Amino acid sequence: MQSEALEFVESVAYPTFGTILLGGLSDSRNRIPLHTSAGLAYTGLESKIETRTMIYIVKGEPVGYFNRQKMEYSEEYRSPFAVMKEMSLNILGRFNLNPAENSLCFDSENIGILSGSSDSGAAALGRALIEMNPGGKDIDMEKFENRLRVVSESVGRSLYGGLTITERTGSRCFTRQILSPEAFSDFVVLGCRFNETRKPSDAIHTNIVKSSEYEARVKRTADKAVEMEKLAKNSKIQEIFELSMHDTDEYHRLIESVGVKIINKGMAEVINSVNQYRRESWASYIVTGGTNVFVPVHRSEYLSLRERLSGLCDEIVPLKIAEGARIIGKSF
Ligand code: MEV
Repeated sequence: MQSEALEFVESVAYPTFGTILLGGLSDSRNRIPLHTSAGLAYTGLESKIETRTMIYIVKGEPVGYFNRQKMEYSEEYRSPFAVMKEMSLNILGRFNLNPAENSLCFDSENIGILSGSSDSGAAALGRALIEMNPGGKDIDMEKFENRLRVVSESVGRSLYGGLTITERTGSRCFTRQILSPEAFSDFVVLGCRFNETRKPSDAIHTNIVKSSEYEARVKRTADKAVEMEKLAKNSKIQEIFELSMHDTDEYHRLIESVGVKIINKGMAEVINSVNQYRRESWASYIVTGGTNVFVPVHRSEYLSLRERLSGLCDEIVPLKIAEGARIIGKSF
């Protein structure tokens, strides 16, 4: 299709997992987080893990392929077509192309992702659109992130990469990076994957707010973000993962109390085994909304811990922390 494309941009973005977990959104249209959260972008240490997206212009009607499957055209607010349409006049104008005859199209592919693919999908789309936009990165990034948030609520994690905080202060919501991926180079995260279909995250978002502890949780996430930023300033990576592990414990206790159970028997066994390992050495665990246990460990020990955890889940994928969304090719 690139051969038919009048212009194109290709981007790559990496999936994410939370380190201060998000639970609760303003409403189903705007999907603004109800509290501050934090997260990491990840990719494979030994394998390719990413979303690749191409935005291109053709003569004719808009078409879109999501993960190589043709997507029905829709102008519904959450649809990638709607985001592209809002920017298409400016973009087509930049290339002196008539909007009555030409359209913006997209083609995305997810490779090897364990969970967090909606963040990388939205970020790769957004990053490509920024590049196509006549003002480039001069656009209002906070506003644009909030537009992309409608596609995926934690898109900022993937847009900026490394360790990020998505702050919710007053009416504002925006993401900033607090540590680059290089800061994590002495650590590996073992992605312990289970072949089970995940529950939609909205089951968490709509139920967690019913907990009598929710107001306290909102306050605690803000305090944890302050603490995490202090640790980041002092490059205390192990302590950051400790904080995340305690946040996983608190989060899952809360959502289980309102009837949403993510940690199944197998996942609990992985966590038990990590807890045993912690008696001799250091490792920790994070569980978000998917059927994976993310196990951070010192790089020098990841092979032995991997050996120990093997057989407890369907696959163990060694991961490293990834950078933000970037451009890998363009026609102009
Ligand atoms: C989905 O919006 C959020 C969770 O994956 C938790 C997180 O990663 O912060 C359920």
